[in-house]
Formats: sequence, structure tokens, C-alpha cells
Amino acid sequence: MITLIACVDKNMGIGKDNKLLVHLPKDLEHFKNTTEGHMVLFGKNTWDSLPVKPLPNRQNIVMTRNIGFRMPTVWRFDTIDDVLWYGKYSKTENQVFICGGEAIYKLLMPYADELIISHMDAEFEADTFFPRIEEDEWMLYSCEGVADNVYFEIAKYYRRHKGE
Ligand SMILES: NC(=O)c1ccc[n+]([C@@H]2O[C@H](COP(=O)([O-])OP(=O)(O)OC[C@H]3O[C@@H](n4cnc5c(N)ncnc54)[C@H](OP(=O)(O)O)[C@@H]3O)[C@@H](O)[C@H]2O)c1
Repeated sequence: MITLIACVDKNMGIGKDNKLLVHLPKDLEHFKNTTEGHMVLFGKNTWDSLPVKPLPNRQNIVMTRNIGFRMPTVWRFDTIDDVLWYGKYSKTENQVFICGGEAIYKLLMPYADELIISHMDAEFEADTFFPRIEEDEWMLYSCEGVADNVYFEIAKYYRRHKGE
């Protein structure tokens, strides 16, 4: 299973100057609770922006073409096939969470089974964005409001199958 997880503003903005748009403690808690025990994959820019890494209790994966990238316990992927193997074809019960940023969401959204999106009820200046969530491709199946520095709704979508 391949799941994209992100926090977006009203314009689908996700970041500015290689940082998140806003600090949301409850969204970070939701991210931790959702991803613990699974694989978490980051693009190299997002990886560089993490204040603490690797994230504990998860297999951390960094997507980069830099063959010199090395960090103990962290895996480097440089092809979509690596992601598909662990997310879809591996016989073990692996779930891969795709954790951004823009380049990685764009690259892997066509292969995702599920989206978990925190939709903030606010607008920020942004330079990176989440791809459009097309209604004919994605079915909303769960939505839960959370009061934080900014109110947000955690929306879960699964990929529609033909005829749905
Ligand atoms: N709001 C959210 O939920 C959220 C979540 C995550 C990130 N963000 C934000 O998103 C922004 C960063 O996004 P971004 O688009 O600049 O960077 P990114 O997606 O994090 O990383 C891009 C890098 O990933 C590597 N990469 C991309 N495509 C690849 C491929 N096909 N194969 C191998 N490696 C590949 C390249 O690294 P190399 O050049 O090293 O090869 C590329 O420079 C930041 O502001 C961050 O805070 C927001």
C-alpha cells in the first residue's frame, strides 16, 4: 500500500523556503501516530529540512539521485520501482508513506492507493504545492476536524476503481 500524507492550505500550498507553512503540533502528532511502525519516504529537500532525523520507530527512506548519500539505518531510493516494490509487490505487509515534498508527491501520486491530507482552513504564501486531487480519481471516505493553531480537517481518500 502506498499512501501520500501531507498538510495543505486552501490553495494546496505545502511549503515555503524549504520549510513547512506553519507549526501544527496536533498535525505532527497525527503524522507520528499514523506513520509509526511503517516506512516513511522523503525527497532530499524535505529530508534536509527535518530538525530530527531519522524519525524513530520507522524505516526512513530518502529519495535522491546522489549516490554519495549515506546515513546509518536510512535507505536511499532513486527509482519509482524501489517504491513500488515495497509498497505494492513485496510479500510482507509493508505500508509506505510518501511524506513529500512537491517533487516527490508529483512523482508518486500516480502510483498511490490512498491520500491522507490535513486541509488547513487558512492561506499562506507558498512556493511548493500538492498536486490537484481529482474527484474522478479519488473518493473521500473519512474526514475529521482538529482544532490547532489553525483549524484543519484530516481527509482520507482512496483511489476510485472503474465504475465507482
Ligand atoms: N506540508 C507538508 O505536508 C509537507 C510535507 C513535506 C514537505 N513539505 C515541503 O515541501 C518543500 C520541499 O519540496 P521540494 O519539491 O522542493 O523537494 P522534495 O520533493 O522534498 O525533494 C526533491 C529532491 O528529491 C530528489 N528527487 C526528486 N525526484 C527524484 C527521482 N525521480 N529520483 C530520485 N530522486 C529524486 C532530488 O534530490 P537530489 O537532487 O538529491 O537528487 C530532488 O532535488 C519544503 O518546503 C517542505 O517543507 C511540506
